[in-house]
Amino acid sequence: MSEEQADSGLSWNERVIQEFRANNGRVGGMFEGAPIVVLTTMGRRTGRPHVNPTIYYKDGDRYLVFASNAGREKHPDWYHNLLESPQVTMEIGTPEGAVRPFATRAQVLEGEERDRYWELQCSIDATFRDYEAKAGRTIPVVALHPLNLGVITDRSRMIGAQLTKHHADLRAELARVRAAIDETLTTDGTTALPAADLAEQLRRRCLTYCYGLQMHHIREDGSFSAFEDRFPHLVPAIGRLRAEHKVVEDALAGFEELLNKGGFDKPDEVERLRAELDRVVSGLEDHFRYEEETLLPALEG
Ligand SMILES: [Fe+2]
Ligand SMILES: [Fe+2]
Repeated sequence: MSEEQADSGLSWNERVIQEFRANNGRVGGMFEGAPIVVLTTMGRRTGRPHVNPTIYYKDGDRYLVFASNAGREKHPDWYHNLLESPQVTMEIGTPEGAVRPFATRAQVLEGEERDRYWELQCSIDATFRDYEAKAGRTIPVVALHPLNLGVITDRSRMIGAQLTKHHADLRAELARVRAAIDETLTTDGTTALPAADLAEQLRRRCLTYCYGLQMHHIREDGSFSAFEDRFPHLVPAIGRLRAEHKVVEDALAGFEELLNKGGFDKPDEVERLRAELDRVVSGLEDHFRYEEETLLPALEG
């Protein structure tokens, strides 16, 4: 299976994910008939969302995934990412006919337990045996535990505290990004750094903010499913929050495209950057407030 760019301009991964989302988790080709989940992990170096389809085995309430990397010598990026940051968003097809995202916590299986489930997976799908032989490494087995809000515990209160903290961090980072943009606009050319370096610094700072906000919303979308299941009265409010995430996601895609073009070493380009950032974050403060008002009381019981 080639991962080259298709005529559509999408990579192999992107096409599989598109098909997965459009067909309630079913895809053809190499994954035909296989149980598939799509994982989003946080890039350990970039902070950027990493999205990968992979085969799973359902074991009670948890989902097991196998870091085979289709028999390559190295572990897949998603595995390294979850070692750094075990909050993984898992998308899966549902009996309702549409893919849903779920917030999960990843746990790497060890020793006898790992071996037992690896053997089980190889007995279900012999391709994994081939992957193991080709890769020449012990293929990690990872259990994904979906967030369960069935009982309000210290853990659910902690999730509430994390939400508040993430909002505070994102507000602070936005303030820093804005300050960096303003600083660039008033630079009179006497700065010790060459303009190109300054422009690159600004671009990176904006990208970091962009990825941070993307990751925050992806993880929230996953936890919203647990909220919807546990607190049906919140379904309409969560529908609004999800819709607001989609608006920000679309705006962020345009912002990221602009950032990837680079070249913010002229005042008009920086002005454009500032305008685009304002467009991305317009309404964000209201969104944070509404989210806190909606979710925090539920988490506190
Ligand atoms: Fe949100
Ligand atoms: Fe949020």
